[in-house]
Amino acid sequence: MSSDVIPPQPSPTLIRTRDFVEAAVALICEAGRVAIDSRGIFRLGLAGGSTPKAVYEALAAQLNPFPWEKVYITFGDERCVPPEDAASNYRMAYESLLSRVAIPSANVLRIRGEVPAAQAASECECELATIAERMGETLYSHDVLLLGLGEDGHTASLFPGSPALEEKERTVIPAFGPKPPPQRVSFTFPLINASRHILFLLNDPAKEPVLQEVLLGQHPAARVRPNHGRVTWIIGER
Ligand code: 6PG
Repeated sequence: MSSDVIPPQPSPTLIRTRDFVEAAVALICEAGRVAIDSRGIFRLGLAGGSTPKAVYEALAAQLNPFPWEKVYITFGDERCVPPEDAASNYRMAYESLLSRVAIPSANVLRIRGEVPAAQAASECECELATIAERMGETLYSHDVLLLGLGEDGHTASLFPGSPALEEKERTVIPAFGPKPPPQRVSFTFPLINASRHILFLLNDPAKEPVLQEVLLGQHPAARVRPNHGRVTWIIGER
């Protein structure tokens, strides 16, 4: 295949289920075991917002033993607030998952919302680059990256019309958005699209229209097209 021919993107997998949480937990754990068998660690990127909370709680509560000590946690985006702030994505993940399982604290790559966004972004970018180099990768490659979808078609903190959408070099940058709080730090599409498996979590029937538009190539979330990985949507039904 000549270099200027872009291989067709595999279509995303859509899983429509009334058992949203169970389906998400099963898929995450299965991918985690495969990653650990293959590379010795499981690199899981967490989504923010409210949808993932029930999934994180169920992950923490599952009775099957899981090798949490081999898990590395990152955050697809963070609001620029202190970690104890109610708006912090880290706080939501800590309360629902990280405080309940034995992930070594050194394996949690928190985006420091309490420092200036540019500093927090650079810190995270450097941490990811160090691990990527150790893994022999050009870009940090999440085994599973969880993402949400906003009603305007944003994902992470990559909002419609934002210059952050056009970032081609950096992996983590400051970003603004209309969803409060406005100042954020976000993974960029180069980093997102280096993931092995992207898992969108959607559990709100009111978002079905924007989902259909994303699947037609509209909105920022449509730019999630992993270079070598795949995309699965877990869509909760009532
Ligand atoms: C954030 C999230 C954002 C979120 C969507 C969906 O920090 O707000 O990263 O991208 O995933 O806005 O949010 P809900 O799950 O609350 O609907």
